[in-house]
Amino acid sequence: MSTKKNVDLLVGAQWGDEGKGKVVDMLGSDVDVFVRYQGGANAGHTVVSEGQKVVFHLLPSGMLYPGKLCILGNGLVIDPEQFLNEVNELLSRGQDKARLAVSPHAHVVMPYHKMLDRLQEEARGKGRKIGTTGRGIGPCYVDKYSRSGLRIEDIINADVLREKLTYILEEKNQIFTKLYNQRPLAFDEIYEPAKRWGEEIAPYVDDTRKMLRLAVDEGKHILLEGAQAALLDIDHGTYPYVTSSSTSASGAFTGTGLAPNDLSRVIAVVKAYTTRVGEGPFPTEDFGEDGEKLRANGGEYGATTGRPRRCGWLDIPALRYSMELNGANVIALTKLDVLTGMGGIKVCTSYERDGENLTSWPTDTGTLSEIKPVYEILPGWDEDITNCKSFDELPENAKSYVKFIENALNVPVGLIGVGADRMQTINKGM
Ligand code: IMP
Repeated sequence: MSTKKNVDLLVGAQWGDEGKGKVVDMLGSDVDVFVRYQGGANAGHTVVSEGQKVVFHLLPSGMLYPGKLCILGNGLVIDPEQFLNEVNELLSRGQDKARLAVSPHAHVVMPYHKMLDRLQEEARGKGRKIGTTGRGIGPCYVDKYSRSGLRIEDIINADVLREKLTYILEEKNQIFTKLYNQRPLAFDEIYEPAKRWGEEIAPYVDDTRKMLRLAVDEGKHILLEGAQAALLDIDHGTYPYVTSSSTSASGAFTGTGLAPNDLSRVIAVVKAYTTRVGEGPFPTEDFGEDGEKLRANGGEYGATTGRPRRCGWLDIPALRYSMELNGANVIALTKLDVLTGMGGIKVCTSYERDGENLTSWPTDTGTLSEIKPVYEILPGWDEDITNCKSFDELPENAKSYVKFIENALNVPVGLIGVGADRMQTINKGM
């Protein structure tokens, strides 16, 4: 007799910053194992717990829970300096309560990746920039796929690190000097800190795939935390304005070594409106007062870069596409309180292009930049909803908005966020 599997996957459904950290944190008391499996320090998960704000870029949000297991899977690109900063900060606050394990197969974001990220962005020039976070994510994944990357297992062995880095730096220095007119990097300037990082990370390195396998087979409750979101997916997002990893549900398998049939449930996190950082198409972007109001009310500034986020309305065809890609079973709807006092609430239900009505998300970037949103305007509400504890306590118009989303996407809303704190969440049926 096999034990029932209990594996939840949580993914962002829009362009990131949906408030995934808070949802993870909210579900956390019931979870045994928290896992991150793709991306790197480009993510920024803000968690507010007991009045304290904590921002994680790399560590799983579950680190604040005592006695849990937190895993950084093989699909991540890990900036060791950032990793150690986050670990040390938790240690200094006495909040190092969870057990942390890092896959030896995760790739290492090296200083030259961050340098290349910035140089490539500058070289792209106006109009072609992606608006990356500058965290070296793209160049690190490029090295992974060209098989010239350094993995965690390489930096924890000083001899292997020396041998591989010698070859890698020769190549990188050709690029820095010949293509970008920069000075070459000296070997020791890269090797010495990397060796130190390796020594400090070594105690955390473990066979995370095997640990997860055991945990799944024992029926432990596992939460796979996606970073970024489906519309930034390297394959399925608004390419080239995407990040460099598989941000939709399928990335969870390559990024951990779990199998598709291990999954019990996909939770899609949807913000009650839409935001985007960086460049790229965003059909429902609001350039007027409403957009500014959403930014101000929602505190829409990047957790990683501090950049003001572009703000706009909910986009139903984009979300339908996202629900399909992710196989979403349930929605966690976040930041509903931000819509309080907005007057009429616009929802994009289709698009218009050259007099033609498009009802589904166009996946080619050319069409995406030409479409205009067609809005339905739903009645808003002015009542403060931040203390509502149940769905029934919400104003009628807020309830109708939630029901509208459920009907349009054919996926139930299980959780509703009505404020920043862990406690300000309505459980409608998770
Ligand atoms: P990169 O991931 O730094 O290469 O950036 C590529 C694109 O993804 C840019 O538009 C970034 O703004 C966006 N991006 C990366 N990480 C996040 C995130 O955590 N939230 C929202 N957008 C992100």
